Amino acid sequence: MWRYFLPTRIFSGSGVLKSNQTVFKENGTKALVVTGRSSARLSGALDDAIEILKNLDVPYALFDEVEENPSFATVEKGGRIMEENDCDFVVAIGGGSPLDAAKAISALNKNREITCDDLYRGDSLVAFPIIAIPTTSGTGSEVTPYSILTDGNGIKKGFGMPSAFPIVSFLDAGYTLTMSREVTLATALDALSHSLEGEIVNNGYNPLVKMLSVESTGIIYRVLPRLIDRERDFALREKMQYAAMLAGMVIAHTGTTAVHAAGYPLSSFKGVKHGIANAVTMIKVFERIAQADPERIARAIEPFKDLGELEDFLDSFRVQEMAPILTEEEVQRWSELSSKASHNKKTPGDLDRDFYVELYRGLGKR
Ligand SMILES: [Fe+2]
Repeated sequence: MWRYFLPTRIFSGSGVLKSNQTVFKENGTKALVVTGRSSARLSGALDDAIEILKNLDVPYALFDEVEENPSFATVEKGGRIMEENDCDFVVAIGGGSPLDAAKAISALNKNREITCDDLYRGDSLVAFPIIAIPTTSGTGSEVTPYSILTDGNGIKKGFGMPSAFPIVSFLDAGYTLTMSREVTLATALDALSHSLEGEIVNNGYNPLVKMLSVESTGIIYRVLPRLIDRERDFALREKMQYAAMLAGMVIAHTGTTAVHAAGYPLSSFKGVKHGIANAVTMIKVFERIAQADPERIARAIEPFKDLGELEDFLDSFRVQEMAPILTEEEVQRWSELSSKASHNKKTPGDLDRDFYVELYRGLGKR
């Protein structure tokens, strides 16, 4: 049994915002524009969106304070600004963080009696419409119902509900050209992990999703080694943007595995970029899964011949050098945290506390 649901209208191509301007007045009367501190401006996407809103006489307010790994405090502040300005739709511009924050802001503002904690109750809440304009190619947030936030204790937590799917996503690879090499690599490896993990999760069988994953992994396999040294190449950027979107569609239907759970503390407590955190934990997790179900790993990682080739691919970008060496106190605390993550139930094999202790002790020493 399988299902497929994607309520997001996707517009893709160079100049796609300007050639579809009317979309901005189809979904509300006043916009809250949500961005981070730099990439929305640097990419030109923020200027283009504001010019369009002005052309259409659609009023807007700007909330440009979303940090990497957005906190509960940030989205609550964004929710207050949305309320004060009486906005009824959101334009989210940037990487995964502004897009994820926009989903929470939109839901908080539509349901004014709730707090961030209530987003995790598992209820399906309504939200104001979200228009997404990604400036990175990795999280897939432009086509998922997920939002990953950091709570008051520094713990990354994800929620998902149908209303958090963007109603429209504009994919213009021109807005991704200004990504640094570091962000290009980290986001692409996040997309790769989505594509692979989405095929590995328990109960993830879905022929349509399998097709999306095969295409996404294949593109990243071929394109990333070239893109990493040709960051201003529009054609390669467009391919990577497409692959990241496909990988987003994969996890929208299946979710992620223990690779994501293992990586979260590295981002929360050590500042390691999310995609790099996945990349440095991926092989150990996949090796463990392969002990329980080698066939599943072999099928999921194609066109990589085996885990050795996948490891060589990751090593070609020197990702292991970006892994921190942890103190024994960190190893113990993080192992406790990660072994309780819900991702473990979706991951084949026995990923107990001892597994995480071994994984974290080995980081940076491979
Ligand atoms: Fe991710």
